[in-house]
Amino acid sequence: MAAFNPLESLFQDLSQRLDAPPADTSAYPTLPAASALQTARLSLPDPHRKGSYLAALGASATLKHIHETIVPALTGQGLSSRYFGFVTGGSLPVAAAADNIVTAVDQNVQVHLPEQTIATEVEDVALRMLADVLGLQGSGEYGTSDVWLGRTFTTGATSSNILGLACGRESVVSKRLTGNGEKGVGELGLLAACHAAGIREIQVLTSMGHSSLSKAAGVVGFGRASVKQLPMSADTPWKLDLEAVEKELAQDGVASVIAVSAGEVNTGEFAVDGLAGMQKLRALADKYGAWIHVDGGKVAPVTVAFVLLFLSKLTTHP
Ligand SMILES: Cc1ncc(COP(=O)(O)O)c(C=O)c1O
Repeated sequence: MAAFNPLESLFQDLSQRLDAPPADTSAYPTLPAASALQTARLSLPDPHRKGSYLAALGASATLKHIHETIVPALTGQGLSSRYFGFVTGGSLPVAAAADNIVTAVDQNVQVHLPEQTIATEVEDVALRMLADVLGLQGSGEYGTSDVWLGRTFTTGATSSNILGLACGRESVVSKRLTGNGEKGVGELGLLAACHAAGIREIQVLTSMGHSSLSKAAGVVGFGRASVKQLPMSADTPWKLDLEAVEKELAQDGVASVIAVSAGEVNTGEFAVDGLAGMQKLRALADKYGAWIHVDGGKVAPVTVAFVLLFLSKLTTHP
């Protein structure tokens, strides 16, 4: 008998699923039954209950537990069009299949080892294609250089916010260093770099920024208190008041990151009005050495597409 090949069996299973007719999800419950939740909860390992808390169940009993007890107690967000608790989005069957393969082969894409794996190149090409689909690559009307060199995928929107603010931190501080060979935040640390750059405060200017923005500000060392809401009006709190933004930017010794929601999680609304609004903001950021961070969250891929299109047409600083 041929030896069992787990990858072979995974591919077979995935292709069968891809070829299968689409599942009828209309009967799929949006929320699990209270009894299913209770059963699942009681089935979780608990050190206070009798029995062997850390003892292994074995592979097939574990799978059975997941399939028969845990899954019925999950929300139907991926299969139901009626669940709005989180904007998690959906995925095409082929993308879900690719995701299964990624899990099975478990590559490291943060270290480039071209002699050992194609993984980093696959990711880079995927990012380049995405940038091309969105018209972001530096060709034709948008310039001749490759403008999105630092492209990367993140694991989610909170980590995007952390990464975006960390990039902004490096940029706004470096712009204020005198160019006498001082290294930036990454080398000196935030306190020493700000001291060398004459910065007494770093602020994040936003309008109804997602709660994860404050979390990110805390993580990157700006502090949650650095996030300042500058709403246009009480009726349109998601719109950024550009006059108020300029007043904040003009302060001496204060460096700024402007965090634009696109769109705001409850309304899907954008913080600025169209291309003209983004260009106005870009001009302000350039004038005062601020960094623009766009939080496309996960309202919809189409939102991200529009945001990136806006950005691509803004040119000067991608
Ligand atoms: C605009 C925005 N930013 C950030 C987040 C946080 O996303 P994640 O849960 O992927 O970290 C969300 C989540 O809804 C969001 O809508």
